[in-house]
Amino acid sequence: MLQYLRISVVSLILSINLRQACNLVGTSIQPTVLVHGGSGNIADIKLPKIRLGVKRAARIGHDVLQRTGSVLDAVEQAVNSLEEDINFNAGYGSALTYESQVEMDAAIMHGAQLEAGCVSLVRDIIHPITLARRIMENTRHRYLAGEGAMRIAAAEGFDILPKGALVTTASLESLAKFKKILNKTGGSNSYGSPGTVGAVAVDACGNVAAATSIGGITGKLPGRIGDSPVLGAGTYADNESGAVSATGHGESIMRFNVVSRVLALVHHSNCTIQQAAAQVLGEMTKRFNETAGIIAIDHRGQLGIYFTSQRMSWAYQRGAELHCGVDPDEDEFENVI
Ligand code: GLY
Repeated sequence: MLQYLRISVVSLILSINLRQACNLVGTSIQPTVLVHGGSGNIADIKLPKIRLGVKRAARIGHDVLQRTGSVLDAVEQAVNSLEEDINFNAGYGSALTYESQVEMDAAIMHGAQLEAGCVSLVRDIIHPITLARRIMENTRHRYLAGEGAMRIAAAEGFDILPKGALVTTASLESLAKFKKILNKTGGSNSYGSPGTVGAVAVDACGNVAAATSIGGITGKLPGRIGDSPVLGAGTYADNESGAVSATGHGESIMRFNVVSRVLALVHHSNCTIQQAAAQVLGEMTKRFNETAGIIAIDHRGQLGIYFTSQRMSWAYQRGAELHCGVDPDEDEFENVI
């Protein structure tokens, strides 16, 4: 009896503290989920399915946020929906290594306690982002790769698919095209289209989370790891500044530490998150002559959507408003309730 009383007093104190934290921030933040489906030269013919996919993911994430109140659930399930969609380079639509294998990377992060989970070189599962979350929650480590990560997947009851189940006709065609270009150019100008999917979310109290998942770049060498699972490069979330997920040329994004630069600008200057995104990506592209894109949300709920590539697919839901875009300055809007 005494124990139950103690538990309910603790719950009461916790909920009062949460409400106080919420009041401190103010009540003007509208819970929002913003997703991207990768940057690059997205072909016109692919646009209808890509738009549909990012809009669906934003709606799923927003619905989860409304139901569970968890920004972590929201970004995980938004990314899950993109991992299941063959039109995106993650999970089922993953790009292939030079040896026709799927090796995926992912990271997830909650901004309240700076908790994070990351995986690299995982194969034969549809949801690397969920594996990243399980590593964060159920192991004493924060980043596992390859065989070790796959052992956690098995122990956590993931469906381990038959070898080759994630290889698709489209990914085989992309690899064949990549190899042809590689042979012609002798190695220069042959970077396989990167893609990537990601999500960021904010709740009414200013809690933020970020998640990024990718199959990698077409024709990569076995063992190559990109920026997506590297905290501060392709993924980061901190309630004191915001949450960011990047897409684009992974080697450049890592070398320039894109995501941590964006959040540092927001934290230490008067920049909006959109200005910070534009400045950092502009500098990265100038420095390395490579392109990238990011989606970002700050702890006050302001959004940042910016890319130096030709296109980046993105969508967000805030209240009944669903926004989506692919081309620079595009913002297609619909009411979803
Ligand atoms: N930006 C994703 C990658 O290069 O792996």
